[in-house]
Amino acid sequence: MPSTILTAVAWPYANGPRHIGHVSGFGVPSDVFSRYMRMAGHDVLMVSGTDEHGTPISVQADLEGVTARQLADKYNRVIVEDLAGLGLSYDLFTRTTTLNHYRVVQEIFKSLHRNGYVVAKEQQSAISPSTGRTLPDRYIEGTCPICGYDGARGDQCDNCGNQLDPIDLINPRSKVNGEKPEFVESEQFFLDLPAFTQVLGRWLSTREDWRPNVLKFSANLLDDLRPRAITRDLDWGVPIPLDGWRDQSMKRIYVWFDAVIGYFSASVEWARRSGDLDAWQKWWTNPEALSYYFMGKDNIVFHSVIWPAMLLGHNGAGDRGGEVGTYGKLNLPTEVVSSEYLTMSGSKFSTSRSKVIYVGDFLRDFGPDALRYFIATAGPENHDTDFTWDEFVRRNNFELANEWGNLVNRSVSMAHKNVGAIPAPRQSADVDHDLLATSRAAFDTIGSLLRRCKFKLAISEAMRVVSAANKYLSDTEPWKQQDNPERRDTILHTALQVVSDANTMLTPFLPHAAQKVHAMLGGEGVWAAQPEIREVDENGGPDYPVLMGDYAAQQAVWESRPISVGHPLEKPTPLFTKLDEKLGRTGPDWALLS
Ligand code: MF3
Ligand code: ZN
Repeated sequence: MPSTILTAVAWPYANGPRHIGHVSGFGVPSDVFSRYMRMAGHDVLMVSGTDEHGTPISVQADLEGVTARQLADKYNRVIVEDLAGLGLSYDLFTRTTTLNHYRVVQEIFKSLHRNGYVVAKEQQSAISPSTGRTLPDRYIEGTCPICGYDGARGDQCDNCGNQLDPIDLINPRSKVNGEKPEFVESEQFFLDLPAFTQVLGRWLSTREDWRPNVLKFSANLLDDLRPRAITRDLDWGVPIPLDGWRDQSMKRIYVWFDAVIGYFSASVEWARRSGDLDAWQKWWTNPEALSYYFMGKDNIVFHSVIWPAMLLGHNGAGDRGGEVGTYGKLNLPTEVVSSEYLTMSGSKFSTSRSKVIYVGDFLRDFGPDALRYFIATAGPENHDTDFTWDEFVRRNNFELANEWGNLVNRSVSMAHKNVGAIPAPRQSADVDHDLLATSRAAFDTIGSLLRRCKFKLAISEAMRVVSAANKYLSDTEPWKQQDNPERRDTILHTALQVVSDANTMLTPFLPHAAQKVHAMLGGEGVWAAQPEIREVDENGGPDYPVLMGDYAAQQAVWESRPISVGHPLEKPTPLFTKLDEKLGRTGPDWALLS
């Protein structure tokens, strides 16, 4: 039976181009998952956008000497282009600075406030004594009061993962100039997280399929939930939708509170753009719908605790009870799928270090599927993984090109040369049946791995079919069967059938190559649909680019399809480019290692 599946993908900050570490965490895994689910006949809605508020944006805007809005406009476009280039099949990739997003965030805030889960109180907030300006949480550093780590930030400790307030830090100092911040009283709104401890605990205990580290980490957080400030003294963000607050220029909703609501607001925007205002309900208020959230591990707490708490509060389902909010009873995440970090030479792959590989540069030189393949086979699915050019070149040349590219190339070119078309099987042997059976069985095996987000195992099973087919050709040697065209044609037919099957199984991972193989086998039209950049506006507001796509029109289906005997075959062109091995030693000149 078809399921209804929301793929909720973490929202990249629009404060710079994204690097390959980012897209290995949220991008490629979520796209592989969505593409598979669509092929298996499920109703997928995949949404995200750029995260454009808060200090990550305003601090970078200061550095670049532009306004926060100008900065967000610039990097929103860069990111949209990179994600389109990588072939990430969003139903809608939008941004958090839309009127729609503001409206939805404010409605959810009001629902939480009405139910008593959002309360105002005084807080000690940090200012810089030398400038008198508010110091953003993440610009304060000190010792973590929980684990003793010295590089903890005012919002979070990256060592133990706990959420912090700047005032909690032992020996706090400003990252800007090292001075000790001063704390002044300031009124902020807090989300009453302790009111959800019980209900979150019960809910988490039903989440059996999550990756064990995510589940354990989240359950630990419940031991010590404290109210979290969800507003800030800042001028860049969603205004607080209450009288007396709305017009205060230096009070805004905290960026994380608005960003997680993006999953929902983007679904509402998608519904409007697709012509049915209520179409989002199928994914959000239908209790049968499933939702999968994809992110890097530093985002877990926001998805496994804070966002679920916000949803429960909106639904009136915490300790204080309450009414179901504006949008009806909204679904909690089915699964929080978190990746570890992609590192480079052992350091966390972050834009603040120089060793960074931007998606745009990578795509320009190596194309999308080489990167997708690397991330799927060697990415940080279960533990931190080091990116090296050597490994990238090796996988590209010896796996992608030599195994898969070569199988396609030699099967199609032998059939083209000898027959000029897809030959009919005329004289079968056991080896043929064995190979076809292996290939057919792989659909179930791989499908079940993909449903459980085990992407690495899934692609290695698909590559096993490819290896089996290569071995089959070496064993049966169709090139030595010139005297026995019936046997030769049967071998070539079998090989081409398995090329077609393997191509289907690799489509979620390598959609661009899959489209080409589809055409090589004589297929017409769209096999694997790609996202398109569309320029849209809002009630006459400024234009902005979104990603959308017509995925329902694609032909790819998760099953073995018999190839069409007699279909003419052209001489194939290589599917993948082999890279110079020197690249493996030095990297490209734009990414020289220091
Ligand atoms: N912008 C955040 C980051 O890059 C992720 C936001 S995910 C969402 O780490 F939940 F807020 F959408
Ligand atoms: Zn800590």
